[in-house]
Amino acid sequence: MKICVTGGMGYIGSHTVIELIKKGHEPVIVDNLVNSNPEVLNRIKKIVKVKPKFYEIDLRDEKKLDKCFQKEKFDVVIHFAGLKSVGESVKKPKLYYDNNIGSSKVLLKVMKKHKVRNIIFSSSATVYGVPKHVPLRETDPVGKAANPYGQTKIEIEKILMKVAKEDKKMNVVLLRYFNPVGAHESGLIGEDPNGIPNNLMPYITQVAVGRRKELTIFGNNYPTKDGTCIRDYIHVVDLAMGHLAALKAIKKKWGLKIYNLGTGKGTSVLELVKAFNRANKLKIKFVYGPRRPGDVVKNYANASKAYKELNWKATHSIVDMCRDSYNWQKKNPTGYQKAKK
Ligand code: NAD
Ligand code: WQD
Repeated sequence: MKICVTGGMGYIGSHTVIELIKKGHEPVIVDNLVNSNPEVLNRIKKIVKVKPKFYEIDLRDEKKLDKCFQKEKFDVVIHFAGLKSVGESVKKPKLYYDNNIGSSKVLLKVMKKHKVRNIIFSSSATVYGVPKHVPLRETDPVGKAANPYGQTKIEIEKILMKVAKEDKKMNVVLLRYFNPVGAHESGLIGEDPNGIPNNLMPYITQVAVGRRKELTIFGNNYPTKDGTCIRDYIHVVDLAMGHLAALKAIKKKWGLKIYNLGTGKGTSVLELVKAFNRANKLKIKFVYGPRRPGDVVKNYANASKAYKELNWKATHSIVDMCRDSYNWQKKNPTGYQKAKK
């Protein structure tokens, strides 16, 4: 299939492009490089011996996007593109609404014009808000967004649900990711955040390579077994495979489908640090700090629907995730920018 991969130069998108190529699909990347590096294309080529086609387009540029769709005749869109920093979204909510919601609207308009009726969207566990219970099921209510970033995911989901309701020929798959970590086993591609990482795993790997002095664990007095928060970390390659599973299913006429993509297992911050140490024979220096405002105590998925309907489940362990994250960071201590080619 010919697949438009918006945001395909980014962390999750680039891993998915690799798996798509491996399965014989033809992914075409559309990305404005606002949070990614052109070097990603060379890395993809090193791994799969194919350099995917790439359009440097801001999705909000309807004219350019229209031209691209005119030329390429896509079967499906996998829509990763978006800004994702929670902290930045609090400081610049308008930018987030404009970029994430605005670009999704333009994308849907162009898809409609070119009769592309299949879309897989990168949603997030953040749409559940503060969970009343765990594990979370797809039938659990969408909560109150904790920040503007989360609000954009809720709004885009609503828009896509409406589109699926109004146009019976549309297939819409909302994939709610839990906490993606890890990297391709080659260590050639991985997560490359700008500035100080907000997320736990990139912070740990930057401590491991000496870019940061120590990790601060945000809170150790939560009502959990060791006092630190619990999340559902999922290997990015498992996540990529989740998109392939959805793609297979989307060929049938499905209308709207929603799936959690997680492992179903909760891991505490302290457990993750310990697993990282074990996997990489290291000792990550850490201190306990105050709680981070807005953090939920426990968040993990019930991923049985994706297994039942898509025959997909995560196969990588926490140790795999820690090993692959470190392997990427070790080989690229400063990310793509100054990485050895
Ligand atoms: P990423 O920042 O690495 O990738 C996103 C890509 O989108 C980047 O390459 C960026 O340049 C591009 N982009 C942003 N705005 C664009 C625009 N207007 N036009 C064209 N391209 C644009 O992020 P990621 O971690 O790979 O996340 C991919 C998707 O998954 C995002 O939608 C994100 O919100 C969602 N998601 C991520 C996580 C996570 O923890 N990484 C969790 C849940 C959901
Ligand atoms: C995990 C745990 C922190 C950093 C965020 C977004 C969410 C989603 C994924 C996209 C928490 C703790 C972290 C550090 C720490 N993104 N931590 N020290 O908060 O589950 O989710 O990313 O949709 O929207 O909110 O992930 O990696 O930031 O934090 O102790 O330096 O690690 O407090 O308990 P989170 P995270």
